This record gives sequence, structure tokens and C-alpha cells, in this order.
Amino acid sequence: MAKPTSRFVCQSCAAITAKWAGRCEACGEWNTIVEEAVQAAPVIKSTGRRIEFVDLAGSTEPPPRAATGIAEFDRVLGGGLVAGSAVLLAGDPGIGKSTLLLQAAAALAKTGKRVLYVSGEEAIEQVRLRARRLGLSDSKLELAAAINLRDIAGSLEHATDATLVVIDSIQTMWLDTIDSAPGTVGQVRACSFELIRLAKTRNFSLVLVGHVTKEGAIAGPRVLEHMVDAVLYFEGDRGHQFRILRGVKNRFGATDEIGVFEMTERGLAEVANPSALFLAERRGNVAGSAVFAGLEGTRPVLVEIQCLLAPNASGSPRRSVIGWEAGRLGMLLAVLETRCGLRLSASDVYLNVAGGLRVTEPAADLAVAAALASAACEQPADPGMVFFGEVGLSGEVRQVAQSEARMKEAQKLGFETACLPRRVARGNRTLTAPDGLKLHEIGHLSDLVARFAGKAGATRG
Ligand code: TYD
Ligand code: MG
Repeated sequence: MAKPTSRFVCQSCAAITAKWAGRCEACGEWNTIVEEAVQAAPVIKSTGRRIEFVDLAGSTEPPPRAATGIAEFDRVLGGGLVAGSAVLLAGDPGIGKSTLLLQAAAALAKTGKRVLYVSGEEAIEQVRLRARRLGLSDSKLELAAAINLRDIAGSLEHATDATLVVIDSIQTMWLDTIDSAPGTVGQVRACSFELIRLAKTRNFSLVLVGHVTKEGAIAGPRVLEHMVDAVLYFEGDRGHQFRILRGVKNRFGATDEIGVFEMTERGLAEVANPSALFLAERRGNVAGSAVFAGLEGTRPVLVEIQCLLAPNASGSPRRSVIGWEAGRLGMLLAVLETRCGLRLSASDVYLNVAGGLRVTEPAADLAVAAALASAACEQPADPGMVFFGEVGLSGEVRQVAQSEARMKEAQKLGFETACLPRRVARGNRTLTAPDGLKLHEIGHLSDLVARFAGKAGATRG
């Protein structure tokens, strides 16, 4: 029997069928089945070139880095852009990716490095207008508006002296050998592959801008995240001025680093002291507010946790959380009610991390509990106090990492007391507080609740 010369492959799940069909039986997708020629299974006849195996303990120079001079950006990168590496800068449309990159690219160009900026989204005139507004018009940055990847790649082949190439955005790039529209998985993957190959061979740093879709995924189902060396997310609330640059993957540095910026009329300004920014609008002596001494990457950041309780008559109280995890709030409410006797189940609970920061640390438990207890007892927390500590299901308050850094930041910003988990000696190392900061140690959450309830009793009685 003659062997078939073609087969049909689903482009979505890679299932193989003998016949074409409008819908893939394996994954249920429509119009994904494509005919492919069957090639005889490759048999490796000749032996290939021999590859060299080396010792683990060889000497390797750290990769050369180019610092842009925008400290918040360089820190998240792990000290600057690495030659031959690819970085994905992802974020919502309009959050400020192009602004950040234009500023970083211009700053790098100012140091005498060759920087190429390819805009697929905006026309030359638009980018020039923005540069003028940012006061960057005198920069030596080289600008092009293009989307045809064949042209771009052809031009970059000769750009051996370039230090940085920015592609804004990868979703607008288009390769004519791929039969699909810009922004589709196939185009994004093929264009990125080609650009990354060029970056490696021509030894320039590549920054790809990627828009995040509504569902929060970078278009091209995360394919990009695997292909690049570093993934940075630029995020922030449109209603707020500040923006956070967050490293989520970095082959050349630590992840979880953040850079903080403020969007002004003259572009993004670096925020060297984010705690001061987040606490700027805090009013002391309000019930339902507590300051959390948090940590973002290696940076201590103080934020205000706000909580509002409202009576609920419907029997199914609301829990509304902004900037923290709803599941964690549910757990804390249960612990406060069951272990500490605080009645919260008849109230609507609104929790907000002021300023729009998103907190993910369990260390915020104690500050959230303090805000809740303060609201429930209608007693303001001490305005000179910060809180940090994780809360367990039995109500015990647990140690968290980097207590010293948190306390130091609190002291730097003029706080007088830190409310923290009861210290336990670890080996022969005990925690030391910075001079002038008083410590209020808590072993069980009920101690904290008693503090607020006691105060309430004292003022009422
Ligand atoms: P942009 O960098 O175009 O966002 P992205 O590339 O992520 O889509 O930023 C767009 C927003 O930033 C726009 O709504 C206006 C604002 N912006 C300022 O507030 N100040 C400025 O100096 C600039 C250039 C932009
Ligand atoms: Mg843009």
C-alpha cells in the first residue's frame, strides 16, 4: 500500500488526522486543521560535529551590562541591560511603556551608545512630539516607524554596533512568511524568534514591548515569556499617578525587584522613596487604618491598609478587597471571629490598600487584622505604629522575613513603634530593633484585639 504523502495537523493542539475537518475532534477548535506534507522520519546517518563538554568550575566573565542611568529601571533589570539578551516589557495599553522606554533609550543614547527605536504603533511625528514634551529632542537616538519584520531584521543585520534595540510593540510586527495577522500567536512567536536570534548574534540588548490582553495574558499565550531572558511588568492604577515596574523573570538578576515611578506631565519621574509617596495622604487618628511595613523585592515599602465596616441587613455580607487577596481576607475574618471573639459576620467589609499598590505578602496579615480590629472597636490605631506579621489559622502570629529592613524603613519615616510577631531566638541570633524604635510583640491575634477593645472600653467607661 502506498504511504500517504500528506497529513492534517491541528494548529491549536497538534492532533494529527488523516482527513481534513472543519473542527478538530481532539480539542474542539474550529478551522485549525492544516494539511502538511509527510516527511520520512529523519534518520541521522552521519555523526554530527562533536560538542565540547566543560567543567562546571570554569571562569566566565559576568555579562557586560549597559546602565541606562534611570536607576529604578536598571535595578529591576539587575544592574542594567545585558548585551545579547532579550527583555519583554509587558503592561496594559496606556500605562506608560512607550514613555518609559523612550526615556530609558534616550538616557542610554546620551552616554554615547547607539540606540535604535522601532515604533510599530506610532508615527515618527507622534514619537517626536512626545520626545519634545519629555525634553529629549536633542537625543542621538535613532528612530524608525516600521512593522515589516523582514525589513527590520535586514536593517539590524548590519547594526553590530548597536547597544539597545527597542521594538514597540511586538504585537504590531509582521512577518510575510506567516499567513496570519499581526498580533496572532504565530506572528508574535515567529517575529520574536527572529529578533531574539539577531540580538544574540549581533550582541545587542533587545527590549520588546508587549501589550497585556484583558485576561491578563500577554498575547501569544505566554509563548513570549519563555523565549526572553527577562520579563518586566509595568503596572499601576490609571486613577493614580504612580507606576510600578516589577521583574517576574530574570535570567541575569533577582526577580521580585520593583522600580517605582510617578507619571507627570513631563514623563515618568523616579520615586526614590516610595513609602513617603504611599503614606502622603494618610490621616492619623481614623479608625480602620493601619500602616503595613511591607517588602517589595529587597525594598521595604510602607503602605496604609484601610478598612471600612458597614452594617449589613441582607444576611449575605459583602467582602470587597482592593490591593489584597480576597481569600486571605476571608481567612482573617474567620480567625478574628472564631479565635478572638470579634463579631464581623454581620458587617460588609471593604478593604483597600491606599495608593493603589497591590500587596501579595502574607506578612500583611497583622496590619489587615489591626485595621479590622480598629474599625470593629471604633478605635484608631496608634498613628506612630507600623504592623507586620503573618497570622495562622489558630490565631498565632508568625515570624516573617526581613524584619530588620522593615523596622529600619519605619524608623526612617518617623514611626515610633513596630507591632510584630513575638521574637524567638534563632540559633544565637536575635532580632535587634534600630535605635529609637519601640517594639510591641504579639504572640496571638487576641492580644492585638484586646488592645483595641481595651482602649474602646477605657474611653467608653
Ligand atoms: P504610553 O507610554 O503611550 O503608554 P503605552 O506605551 O504603555 O501604551 O503612555 C500613555 C499615557 O501616559 C497617556 O495616557 C498620557 C500619559 N503621559 C503623561 O501623563 N505624561 C507624559 O509626559 C507622557 C509622555 C504621557
Ligand atoms: Mg505605547
